[in-house]
Amino acid sequence: MTEFDLKLNKIDFGNPENKGKVISTTEALSLLDEWVLNEKLKVHMKQVGHLMKSFAKEKSYSEAVQHQWYLAGLLHDADWDQWPDQHCKKIVEELERRAIDPAVIRAIASHGPRYFGVEPVTEMDKMLYAFDELSGFIHAYSLMRPTGYQGMEVKGVKKRLKDKTFAAQVSREDIQDASERAGMSVDQMIEFVIKHQLRSTD
Ligand SMILES: [Fe+2]
Repeated sequence: MTEFDLKLNKIDFGNPENKGKVISTTEALSLLDEWVLNEKLKVHMKQVGHLMKSFAKEKSYSEAVQHQWYLAGLLHDADWDQWPDQHCKKIVEELERRAIDPAVIRAIASHGPRYFGVEPVTEMDKMLYAFDELSGFIHAYSLMRPTGYQGMEVKGVKKRLKDKTFAAQVSREDIQDASERAGMSVDQMIEFVIKHQLRSTD
């Protein structure tokens, strides 16, 4: 990611008049299928969507709000596969064009503060940043365990985090930073992800 300048250079996203406006799950999944050709990336995006929705559900947010959290998670990397040099910018513009609620667009725009230069401010922003970091890491760990997610423990994940050669592309610094911003310990975050992570693509 560092080879491109991905800074978005703005702080306001979407149109406040579109508050509450969303696209359906079917429409979001067809955008994902159209834009993302890499199956592994699709799995990652679906997993993050699932985590976001699960978190909003645990917080007893309304179904409408849960769907917004789901959309932010599901679509956050939609442009990464085919347009890495326009990562984040392209999906932000697409969702602005589709008149989506600004909160969803903002969460996507701030999911990598070091890259996009947008600080995560709202709870949705912060959780997306935090889940994005950990979801892929824990999934990679599940793939190397003979029993997958079965019997996975927080301490096993932490051991892998300390092993800098494992999933080396995942920034341990960002995991720490994201958890702190989310107001949760890394242990709590890991526990939540293990509990809710989807094991299949459906
Ligand atoms: Fe991601």
